[in-house]
Amino acid sequence: MITIGLPKESRQDETRVALTPDAIKKLCKKGFQVKVEKSAGERAGFPDSAYEMEGVELVDAAQAWGTDVLLKVHRPSDSEMPRLKKGALLISMLEPYLKDGFFEKMAGQGVDTISMELIPRTSRAQSMDVLSSQANIAGYRAVLEAAAHYGRFLPLMMTSAGSSKPAKVMILGVGVAGLQAIATAKRMGATVEAYDIRPDVKEQIQSLGAKVVELDVGEEGTGTGGYAKELSEEGKKKQQALLTERLKKCDVIISTANVPGRRAPVLISEEAVKGMRPGSVIVDMAAATGGNCPLSEPGHVVTKYGVKIVGLVNYPSLVPTDSSQFYANNLVSLLSLMVDDQAGKPAIRYDLEDDIISAALSTYQGQVRLKN
Ligand SMILES: NC(=O)c1ccc[n+]([C@@H]2O[C@H](COP(=O)([O-])OP(=O)(O)OC[C@H]3O[C@@H](n4cnc5c(N)ncnc54)[C@H](O)[C@@H]3O)[C@@H](O)[C@H]2O)c1
Repeated sequence: MITIGLPKESRQDETRVALTPDAIKKLCKKGFQVKVEKSAGERAGFPDSAYEMEGVELVDAAQAWGTDVLLKVHRPSDSEMPRLKKGALLISMLEPYLKDGFFEKMAGQGVDTISMELIPRTSRAQSMDVLSSQANIAGYRAVLEAAAHYGRFLPLMMTSAGSSKPAKVMILGVGVAGLQAIATAKRMGATVEAYDIRPDVKEQIQSLGAKVVELDVGEEGTGTGGYAKELSEEGKKKQQALLTERLKKCDVIISTANVPGRRAPVLISEEAVKGMRPGSVIVDMAAATGGNCPLSEPGHVVTKYGVKIVGLVNYPSLVPTDSSQFYANNLVSLLSLMVDDQAGKPAIRYDLEDDIISAALSTYQGQVRLKN
């Protein structure tokens, strides 16, 4: 019988767990045996007792790591890697854009790996798309973070003790996180406008009731696969200059702009920050990839020129129960695609002709498959 292991996440800032009790129930129905490391789900709101209620075996770390299929949120640390057995399959967010020898080590150890970030952004793969499921939650949580740091109301308030105008919120970068940030800020009563380099998103911004900000940067920003492309040096300068004046008038900025595998574009210049009203808030969701604002500090909240700049890097971990639920559902969908039911005994099938498997399978049979 194929065993699936759920080791505890070891990163300090990680509260999610890759499988919830509900998800495990679905995997058990498919004939897998799941071994959960004790207290793996505790920080996500799933105590050991919740797993035990599904009849799951709670084990120590060595037993969880020694299984056939390992499900994780993050890639294993250097000290955890040797715990994976030869021939195991590791499915996780493996940070495929980091060129740090991780995949070479996994291939050398004979471990097959699937990077969840490389699941294609197609309709067929939607139920496995962890970038979307987690970015959606991050966009929601980022607005709550902004609201908590902003010393004023987001909505219009009219009370006998006084009144306040709605906050002017600007969303920069309207991918999955940006769209959810627009929707959340609208629900909270703010006046919302949004900007993206890809012209395709205009209708989506409008459908959420926000105002589209259009800037003439002199070049087209649409890249391949629905993503943006990096602008030329001249385009970047033009964009920053045009944005600077607009951003000075905003009370809250939520910035999410990214180009996969690249440093995040600088959209919020120091001059823009200087010009903002004291007490304004910037939530730089791109802080982990270099920042949309050069003043943001990854993992910290700093105050510069009287403006609070939030550089947190793991928003889904601040909503750990739902993030884990969504992430686990993504994993179950992927495993459902890979399972080959041989007379009631599940086997894992690597169909290299399948565009989803082909795109995400990062090491296989001792070879690194990642391109570039
Ligand atoms: N199943 C599907 O078909 C599916 C699922 C999810 C996402 N998508 C698509 O994938 C794409 C990427 O979404 P994402 O959320 O991962 O994006 P992302 O996190 O890579 O980037 C966030 C946003 O930043 C924008 N951006 C980049 N550089 C910019 C700049 N210089 N100025 C302003 N904005 C800039 C991008 O256009 C993008 O909208 C979108 O087109 C989305 O619709 C498709």
